[in-house]
Amino acid sequence: MKFKNTHKDYQVTDESIYRSRRKLIKAGLIGSAAFLTSHALALKLPKHTINGQFKIEEMTSEKDATTYNNFYEFGLSKSEPAEESGSLITDPWSIDISGLCEKQGKIDLDKLVMRFPLEERIYRMRCVEAWSMVIPWMGFRLADLIKYCQPLSNAKYVYFETLYDPKQMPNQNGRSIPWPYREGLRMDEAMNELTLMVIGMYGKKIPNQNGAPLRLIVPWKYGFKGIKSIVKIKFVDKQPLNSWQAIAPDEYGFYANVNPEVDHPRWSQATERRITGGFSLFNSRIKTQLFNGYSEYVADLYKGMDLRKFY
Ligand code: MTE
Repeated sequence: MKFKNTHKDYQVTDESIYRSRRKLIKAGLIGSAAFLTSHALALKLPKHTINGQFKIEEMTSEKDATTYNNFYEFGLSKSEPAEESGSLITDPWSIDISGLCEKQGKIDLDKLVMRFPLEERIYRMRCVEAWSMVIPWMGFRLADLIKYCQPLSNAKYVYFETLYDPKQMPNQNGRSIPWPYREGLRMDEAMNELTLMVIGMYGKKIPNQNGAPLRLIVPWKYGFKGIKSIVKIKFVDKQPLNSWQAIAPDEYGFYANVNPEVDHPRWSQATERRITGGFSLFNSRIKTQLFNGYSEYVADLYKGMDLRKFY
């Protein structure tokens, strides 16, 4: 399937830089032209196209998407990731590629990013906790990265790991999760055109609390599949154990496909609270869609599988 590049009206990059500059000027926080330029450069993303194919419902505000987070490495509350993740150093950053593939070893993220076409896509994100957002992500297709790694024919799954460094990620001193955070995808899921490796959102570099400098986004699956701050990618022949499955296998599975008919043992998955901005009291409750509304792209991956068994 080919993507059309029709969406031209959403030019968030320049506008957001302009707006944040204006805010700083207003607050009297910037005086010199040099600062202004370096600030703009820090925010600016590499050249990318805007893929309008996925334009959907009203977007979540940038503020909500960057202050209401799950990132247990920085604490268990929704506000802690934004408050506590300043300690994470994301530049320089390298990814270790290993396992059943030809390309092996550490590669610098900046060099990796230059190899692939970058694009912005607006996707729904549905958390297993029954809230959801609509977010403009920017990144490259995991399929492109996989092709670059040249997996061997016996590579059946892709396994990911988050950084483990309690100095930078203070809640790794606690035992809420067996660290590092781990995730995995079946090879065909990883190669699917929707699966993105994300380096930006809202036209800026991705903030630490959202998984800087590189995270996974799999929009038809519950948000916990979207592992943040990735340092390791390994091609394996057996289905990997992801963090949430390791913690509570009766509640969280490997597949984690969004499905309104398969409830979490402790709550219904039939509806979700859509966070679009403003006070949470005004967030509307909407019906959850099978595969989060992306059936046309992914239903074939699960033909003949019992989705209740493989949750
Ligand atoms: N990745 C790591 N390393 N640690 C985490 O705690 N939380 C997951 C996922 N990725 C998590 C993670 C969960 S439960 C969700 S819902 C999403 O990140 C939240 O992404 P967001 O904070 O950008 O909305």
